[in-house]
Amino acid sequence: MTASAARVVVVIPTYNERTSLPVTLSHLRQRVPGADVLVVDDASPDGTGAWAGAVAEQDPQVHVLHRAGKEGLGPAYLAGFAWALERGYDVLVEMDADGSHRAEDLPALLTALTSGVDLVIGSRWIPGGAVQNWPAHRRWLSRSANRYAKAALGLGVRDATAGFRAYPADTLRGLDLAGVASQGYCFQIDLTWRVHRGGGLIVEVPITFVEREQGTSKMDRSIVVEALWRVTAWGVQARITGLRAWAQALWRRN
Ligand code: GDD
Ligand code: MN
Repeated sequence: MTASAARVVVVIPTYNERTSLPVTLSHLRQRVPGADVLVVDDASPDGTGAWAGAVAEQDPQVHVLHRAGKEGLGPAYLAGFAWALERGYDVLVEMDADGSHRAEDLPALLTALTSGVDLVIGSRWIPGGAVQNWPAHRRWLSRSANRYAKAALGLGVRDATAGFRAYPADTLRGLDLAGVASQGYCFQIDLTWRVHRGGGLIVEVPITFVEREQGTSKMDRSIVVEALWRVTAWGVQARITGLRAWAQALWRRN
């Protein structure tokens, strides 16, 4: 299957993105007109879902999943993935609504998704990647989270928390998505870790991440705390599993 023949859907989770989403969506539709779009809105009080619904009525390539309330990034993506897998899309893209992920970087992600690649990550922290307008504490947080994920989980990826990605549908079908409990942004690390553990091939391509100009980030302390304890727990679990396998091998040999 060539990249151009593949059916691509860009899943965009939204919570109060009424000012940002129109710009993001229009750039996306212009730059990558072949891709469908699924907005997954958690009943945004600012009317994002209603606005997206009106667009969907005009544009058959735009769809909206209206959810009952704010449950976090993880459950929103899982609902979006289920919707897209049911409809037979070949490639599922994750993208933020707030303009941080540029539509012009998407073709490079899709081009990198050649046969045998299980996940393409749009990476800020590889040569050629960049972050614009992030305050020092956000840079520090992202770098630290990535360093910690690497140390705890042995991930070879530089940007495991990145939210601009392309998955072949088969990768997601092969994961135990029902077992994903991550609610916040550690959902990204969670899925990276699952692909890595399954022996999947992960490719990073450089992107420029531009901090939003409209609206506010949904990042909060609970999202950081969740990522910290989950990554720690996965790391401990992996070491116990490794030790057990080593002990069993030793036992068998004697
Ligand atoms: N449906 C839904 N429900 N969408 C949500 C929720 C939620 O509970 N929380 C956040 N979102 C949406 C936002 O509306 C936006 O489109 C996207 O998820 C990213 O949220 P931001 O609040 O803009 O995230 P950020 O800019 O602070 O964080 C960025 O960096 C993180 C760390 O690297 C993003 O790229 C994250 O994906 C990334 O993990
Ligand atoms: Mn953002």
